[in-house]
Amino acid sequence: MAKPIHKLALTMIVGLCVAPTAHADDVSAGKAKAAPCAACHGEDGNSTNPAYPILAGQTARYIYTELRDFKSGRRKDPFMTPMAKNLSKQDMWDLGNYFAAQKPKPTGFTPEAGMVERGRKVVEDALCTMCHLGGFSGQNEVPRVAGQHQQYIYKQLMAFKNGERTNFPDMTSYVKSIPEKDIKAISEYIANLN
Ligand code: HEC
Ligand code: HEC
Repeated sequence: MAKPIHKLALTMIVGLCVAPTAHADDVSAGKAKAAPCAACHGEDGNSTNPAYPILAGQTARYIYTELRDFKSGRRKDPFMTPMAKNLSKQDMWDLGNYFAAQKPKPTGFTPEAGMVERGRKVVEDALCTMCHLGGFSGQNEVPRVAGQHQQYIYKQLMAFKNGERTNFPDMTSYVKSIPEKDIKAISEYIANLN
C-alpha cells in the first residue's frame, strides 16, 4: 500500500508537466543578467567553491522557483537573499533559462571508501528518485542534484531535516528519520553521480 504522501507527490509531478520551453532569446537575455552571479556561482554556473551550488544544467523551473523564494523570504541565505531582492519575474525566467542551457562540469569530488555504496542503499529505500528521477537528473520544479557539490548537498539535507529550510515541507518528511551518518553517505553518493 502506498502511503498518502506518495500519492501527493505523484499528483504534484503530474501537475508540473507544463514548464515553458526556452528560446534562444531567453538564454541570451539571461546571459547578460547572469554577470553578477559569476562571482559566487562561477562562469556559466559551474561554481568551484563548494559553498556555492552549481547552477549549470539545473532545471529552469527550479532556478525560477528558488529565486522567487529567496526574494519573498520563503528561503533565506545571507548571500543569496540580497541577490534576488531586485529581480523581476522576467529576470528570474531569463536567468533560469540561461543556466539550464549551460553544461555542468564534473567537480572532481573523491568520495570516502564505502560511502557511495551505503548512500545508494539508503536512497533506494527512501524513494527519492520518484521525484528527482533516476540518477537525480531532476525535472521541472524538482532539482537536478547529480554532480552537485557534496558539501552543499549535505548542508541542504541537514537544513531540511532540522527544519531550517522550509520552502518544501515534503523534503523534510523524506529525510527526517534518516540518521546524520546516512545523510552524509547520500550526499557523497549523489555528488559522485554524473
Ligand atoms: C555573494 C555570493 C552569491 C552571489 C553573487 C549569487 N549567489 Fe546564488 N547562492 C549563493 C549561496 C551561498 C547559495 C546557497 C544558499 C544556501 O546554502 O541555502 C545560493 C543559491 C542559489 C540558488 C539555489 C540553488 C539550489 O541548488 O538550490 C540559485 C537558483 C541562485 N543562487 C541563483 C543566483 C543567481 C541567478 C545569481 C545572480 C543574479 C546569484 N545566485 C548570485 C551565493 C550567491
Ligand atoms: C515528493 C518529491 C520528492 C521526494 C520524494 C524527494 N525530494 Fe528532494 N526535493 C524535491 C523538491 C520539489 C525540491 C526543491 C524544493 C524547493 O523548491 O526548494 C527538493 C530538494 C532537494 C535537495 C536540495 C537541492 C538543492 O539544490 O538545494 C536535495 C539535496 C534533495 N531534494 C535530495 C533528496 C533526497 C536525497 C531524497 C530522498 C531521501 C529526496 N530529495 C526526496 C522533491 C522531492
